[in-house]
Amino acid sequence: MAHQAQDRDVDALEQALDNALGTRHGQRVDDGFKGHKVVNEVLDRTTVHAIYGMIKSGILLRVNGVVSAGKESVVFWATGKDGADVALKVYLVSTSNFKRRASYMEGDPRFKNIRGGTRNMVYAWAQKEFKNLSGAHSAGICVPEPIAVDKNVLAMSFVGQGGVCAPTLNKVRATYSEYEETIAIIESLYSKASLVHSDLSGYNLFRTGGGVTVFDLGSAVDLRHPSSLAFLKRDISNVTDFFVRHGHEVKNPRDVLARITQ
Ligand SMILES: Nc1ncnc2c1ncn2[C@@H]1O[C@H](COP(=O)(O)OP(=O)(O)OP(=O)(O)O)[C@@H](O)[C@H]1O
Ligand SMILES: [Mg+2]
Repeated sequence: MAHQAQDRDVDALEQALDNALGTRHGQRVDDGFKGHKVVNEVLDRTTVHAIYGMIKSGILLRVNGVVSAGKESVVFWATGKDGADVALKVYLVSTSNFKRRASYMEGDPRFKNIRGGTRNMVYAWAQKEFKNLSGAHSAGICVPEPIAVDKNVLAMSFVGQGGVCAPTLNKVRATYSEYEETIAIIESLYSKASLVHSDLSGYNLFRTGGGVTVFDLGSAVDLRHPSSLAFLKRDISNVTDFFVRHGHEVKNPRDVLARITQ
């Protein structure tokens, strides 16, 4: 009986998630994500069970709609137990990015014992983003606050309001002070959290009322990763190019690198 009741609850959640996939900012969308081919994958039974577990354990109250549907993940806007907005990032269990991801896992001593298979790799990737967020958050760096992770589902604080995320820097004219903040974030990640973001760009930086918030830390590696210095150089170089394109006279990236690693 208990099992049947749970099955019904999971079915109901699956229906609610299906609705959420056709809803953005609380509004139905005709061109919604429901037609998107990833939908079946997003709603695979294991994923629905993982989200159900978060509701059962009181972490989440409900899932409201979709914020973003990308190739690697779908991000839902959900409500947490205290009524606060939560971002629910669901990693898609697909083989396409297996190789790219492997190069950000192998060599990071925190992830030595990953079992084979795409599914385990995706679960490990979600764990990795959660750990990276935890390390950065406890070091006082502006990142979404990690709340929970289970399988391919990561819950974190929502950056934005009413289901609309804060603008990313690639969508606005970024300011010089945002350049300085971004460099300070790279520096704090390195020196206080022993991390290199490794995928830094205007797409992964939010403009908020309280300054720049960095997110999408799945690729971030521990400093002991053999490529951490190369990734750091690339992050600094990408950020430099980005702010030059936005019309700013910025510091020499070599000097920035030297100061950070001194
Ligand atoms: N904590 C958050 N709060 C609000 N919105 C978020 C949050 N995290 C992610 N998003 C939204 O989801 C989008 C994708 O998130 P993210 O960059 O972490 O995933 P991704 O796997 O790189 O996605 P994509 O494949 O689309 O690049 C962001 O651009 C933003 O719109
Ligand atoms: Mg991203």
